[in-house]
Amino acid sequence: MIKEVTKSQDLFNRRKKVVANGVGVFNTATVMEAKGAIIIDVDGRELIDFAGGIGVVNAGHCPEPVVEAIREQAGKYLHTSFNVVTYEPYIQLCEELAEILPHGDNTKVMLVSTGAEAVENAIKIARQATKKSAILCFTGAYHGRTMMAMTLTSKVSYKYDCGPFSPEVYRLPFPNFYRYRGTRDMDKFVEDELKRLYESALNLVDPKSVAAVIIEPIQGEGGFNPVPQKYLEGLRGFCDEHGILLIMDEIQSGFCRTGHWASWQHYGVQPDISTYAKSMGSGLPIAAVVGRADIMDAAAIGSIGGTYIGSPICCVAASATIKYMKDINLNEKAIKIGNVIMDRLQHLMKQHSEIGDVRGVGAMVAIEFVKNGDPRQPNSEICPQIVKGCAEDGLVILSAGTYKNALRILSPLVITEEQLEKGLSILEVQIKKAIKNI
Ligand SMILES: Cc1ncc(COP(=O)(O)O)c(C=O)c1O
Repeated sequence: MIKEVTKSQDLFNRRKKVVANGVGVFNTATVMEAKGAIIIDVDGRELIDFAGGIGVVNAGHCPEPVVEAIREQAGKYLHTSFNVVTYEPYIQLCEELAEILPHGDNTKVMLVSTGAEAVENAIKIARQATKKSAILCFTGAYHGRTMMAMTLTSKVSYKYDCGPFSPEVYRLPFPNFYRYRGTRDMDKFVEDELKRLYESALNLVDPKSVAAVIIEPIQGEGGFNPVPQKYLEGLRGFCDEHGILLIMDEIQSGFCRTGHWASWQHYGVQPDISTYAKSMGSGLPIAAVVGRADIMDAAAIGSIGGTYIGSPICCVAASATIKYMKDINLNEKAIKIGNVIMDRLQHLMKQHSEIGDVRGVGAMVAIEFVKNGDPRQPNSEICPQIVKGCAEDGLVILSAGTYKNALRILSPLVITEEQLEKGLSILEVQIKKAIKNI
């Protein structure tokens, strides 16, 4: 009997023939349409989305006010280039971003199209503002795939044979409390990690030549690792002592994911510059660099920009997204959803020693798998099985982490209680199944 090829399989076969292999496949799902937290695949199957297009649809797939704003703008003008002809949607969005993400008394903003571009520009601005060149970044970091962003990115598999990389980039160990604490409590761990930070002034790079430190307060691709509170405070102090700018990359953790516009707002530690993208535009390519006005204005005229920076369609989509997030109080929803996810997964962790950790802030939650209950023995085999099993059962989910041994939940925050419970049940079944198989 000839087995019928599904439309999804057919689409994948076509993809294989024509799309470069290097464009990775993180999940085998396909899409015909999507709304809220549901994706309908090309075979008409309903899938619950726990991946959110890699953290892009915190406000849900196709929120009505955003779609409406895009339609309306499309009927007016599509492109003039902001460098050439000034338009209000760009300015309005910058005003809104400065209001929700204040960096001191006077905040300025620049818009670009992607997260990696925001990171590139943040570095350029920091270098121009300090007239210094070295940049400090962290192990486990992900900042994008353009040349500087890729250099700052830690994971080697993202950059095979892509060098030479950007010079003057130095890497510090990220204070990953779960993996490396050993028998130490948080205070002792942070004390030791801050010692290493200060030692870097002796054994890594002269802080007098460092323009900026870039950090994700909660690492995204690295496995949803939150930086300890006191470490971030200590890092702020280190930067201030040496005239180094502190850049926080909020591209994955921003826009309500953690229950705030940015995760640094939980810490009460203010960056000098911060970067945003993903859920800010509900799927349209828009990103922002936000910073203290004196720093942002240090960039020479013409040194930052580009043809498509802050496209009017993307600006109105982002403004409508921010308004919608405020109207439905998405930050509050993130906290509620996060509590439900944490409760379910922590309960599961108590039953299985293979689950080493369940951690998160707001609705940015990850579950990490290890061997022998040991944080230093990551289990890399289990996540691909769970992701595959979930896909078969109608749940789209992604892994994360240096060893790909964590699953991260990035569901739209407009997900209904029923959809969330159903998704978590599918996940639970697949976790138990994969644990049995190993
Ligand atoms: C923290 C962080 N920074 C930067 C980026 C790069 O953003 P983009 O893929 O839009 O270039 C990402 C993407 O996943 C990210 O998670």
